[in-house]
Amino acid sequence: MFSIKWNGDSVTILDQRLLPGEEVYHTYRHFSDLVDAIRYMEVRGAPLIGITAGMGIALAAQHVISDSLVNFRDELIKACDQFAATRPTAVNLFAAISRMKKKINEGRDIADIRQLLEKEALALYAEDIEANKTIGKNGSRFLNDGDVVLTHCNAGALATGGYGTALGVIRSAIEEGKKIQVYACETRPYLQGARLTAWELVRDGIPVTLITDSMSGHFMRTGVIKKVIVGADRITANGDVVNKIGTYTLSVLAREHKIPFYVAAPVSTLDPATKTGDEVTIEERGVDEVAYIGDKQIAPEGVFIRNPAFDMTPARNIAAIITDKGVIENPAGNGIAKALKQ
Ligand code: MRU
Repeated sequence: MFSIKWNGDSVTILDQRLLPGEEVYHTYRHFSDLVDAIRYMEVRGAPLIGITAGMGIALAAQHVISDSLVNFRDELIKACDQFAATRPTAVNLFAAISRMKKKINEGRDIADIRQLLEKEALALYAEDIEANKTIGKNGSRFLNDGDVVLTHCNAGALATGGYGTALGVIRSAIEEGKKIQVYACETRPYLQGARLTAWELVRDGIPVTLITDSMSGHFMRTGVIKKVIVGADRITANGDVVNKIGTYTLSVLAREHKIPFYVAAPVSTLDPATKTGDEVTIEERGVDEVAYIGDKQIAPEGVFIRNPAFDMTPARNIAAIITDKGVIENPAGNGIAKALKQ
């Protein structure tokens, strides 16, 4: 299984909308197909969205035909703008686009820009896998032998170049010989927990129990859950974490029950330019995701529906943010600046 692959003149992605029923890969030759793949959730997860945009921009460079360097750069910037308009919340997308834009400006001529963009896209991909492995090593000490660990959404191999962030920490602890059980929240409405996290963990032989989101408090109060670990879409300067809707609720429950709440993310998810989580744009998605489960309509016509895809967990609810550049303990006191300097 892989989430994305660069083929030189095309990109292959796993269509995550079809999981867990079907494992279908699509190969795209045109960058606009990758714009759509992000917008329509064939790929998702903050790091993977960034990698997809990087590869998409590299692909665009191969197809844009232009008689002048100025026009060539203009066309590529337009492609960057299309990627930037797909999903607003995960900062990895914008970080990846800005790295690609730097190469567009640096390249001496069209051939040079094409080469630089391909190299940069592959670097984004390789760096992400490496970062996840390091996050795993940095975070595994927080998980004890025998722990039951709750996670939310999918912060695994499917959400990244590979290995995963939150699930990477779990994988790393297991590789060290610890027995870890995972409880996965189903993550309504898009069901990333049920469809994706459960799928990739079952596939790897990691014991996973699926619960609905509303069961999490019960399993915390009754002492089943020992730790919570989630990924992130954006971490602001003060240590606030924006992640999948429902993360905030879990953090409040964890605080009430004195259960450590960890966030695992690469430094590409850190956004020092944004002061607090309140300033982050929360994507509001279509109402049908809430009104339907699969093909079945579960809400009456005429009801008002809201569907924010993310929420903000304040730094004070987080025991530690585990990154590839070190661990930020007590982010409410420390913010993220130190992790970025390391
Ligand atoms: O809407 P999604 O599926 O893209 O949301 C994904 C999440 O919220 C993940 O938890 C986050 O991106 C971290 S993935 C390593």
